[in-house]
Amino acid sequence: MNHITSTLSKSVFSRVASRSLLGSSLGSNMMRTSIMHHRGYTTTTGASKKGGSGRFLFLTLAALGGAGGYYYTSAQSIKTKHVPALSTRKEIDYEAIYKDIAEMLDENPDYDDGSYGPVLVRLAWHASGTYDVETKTGGSNGATMRFEPESIHAANNGLVIARDLLEKIHKKYPEISYGDLWTLAGVCAVQELGGPTIPWRPGRQDVLDAKSCTPDGRLPDATKKEDHIRNIFYRMGFNDQEIVALTGGHALGRCHPERSGFEGPWQEAPTMFSNEYFKAISTRTWIKKSLANGGWQWVDKNNTDVMMLPAEIYMYNDKEFKKYFDLYAKDEEKFFEDFAAAFSKLIELGVPFKGNEKVYRFKATTA
Ligand code: HEM
Repeated sequence: MNHITSTLSKSVFSRVASRSLLGSSLGSNMMRTSIMHHRGYTTTTGASKKGGSGRFLFLTLAALGGAGGYYYTSAQSIKTKHVPALSTRKEIDYEAIYKDIAEMLDENPDYDDGSYGPVLVRLAWHASGTYDVETKTGGSNGATMRFEPESIHAANNGLVIARDLLEKIHKKYPEISYGDLWTLAGVCAVQELGGPTIPWRPGRQDVLDAKSCTPDGRLPDATKKEDHIRNIFYRMGFNDQEIVALTGGHALGRCHPERSGFEGPWQEAPTMFSNEYFKAISTRTWIKKSLANGGWQWVDKNNTDVMMLPAEIYMYNDKEFKKYFDLYAKDEEKFFEDFAAAFSKLIELGVPFKGNEKVYRFKATTA
């Protein structure tokens, strides 16, 4: 299998330690130097192999002429399971679920930068970001990404890893809906990696087949310009400030060549939620780099392991968007506040709340 070695900084600190390092008087350059070291990772995980075999099975069934509907990539068993009526469901201990997810985040130090947090945040966002305010379709209600074709939309490449991870939690707490579980995991990941408290409430109901899958193309395309990004997020009901705040989620995680074609994190501490993304985009010199797949991305002239997507620099060069990038680069508290509000709104898009759900403000286990 392919092994890619990157000179990227793997966060070797505990979540708490990394957070306090950022808050200390160390300049970002010093911090960068202090945490840089070589690391390697495997590009094909067991989980993605599993997705591949699901596709193979689908093709086989189709070839046999028996596949009139859809086949599920992963975690198939849940689809046909009987869903108990609400009245007979057992009380769900969301606090316990939060804690179990928090424990799982750094159980595999060899995965990426040492945390599953970023890929869980991306799952929560991609499950929710399909919402269309006009037709009231999409969003985290239904957890439609469990089904093909949504599970294999190119934008969702790699998310089978996150879905399979959460399957383990679902086995332990089968009463929680997948929509609730995925969004709760996103909230947990942001908080555990040092981000703001994000109010969360249950209420998503899973659909049991692929009929409600959203069409491809509802999530943003990173090669496109700011008008495309606006169209995508306006369709969900967000304004410019909310769009920029949400994009600050790229403080976490990295791009993977085998998932999106892009490569690298947005700054050197990708397992720590902070406003470093905004500081990076607004203060560094970005140069174009050609990619193996024929595309291109921006990289920091002084540390070419760090990247920006084409769409992000188009956004930064837009006057309206830029003022919020600059605001959040200067004011982390304001970023945390706005991110929490926008992310909470994102994960609630299209959810049929009754209005009497308890709103949870989970306490980070690292606090
Ligand atoms: C401006 C629109 C956006 C575009 C074009 C975009 C694009 C991308 C791309 C291309 C990747 C790399 C995927 C991979 O190769 O693994 C990525 C990763 C990621 N995105 Fe976004 N994204 C956008 C908005 C958001 C939002 C709103 C959030 C959350 C609030 C978010 C959170 C993440 C996270 C956490 C990762 C890292 C995942 C990982 O490390 O596995 N993104 N995004």
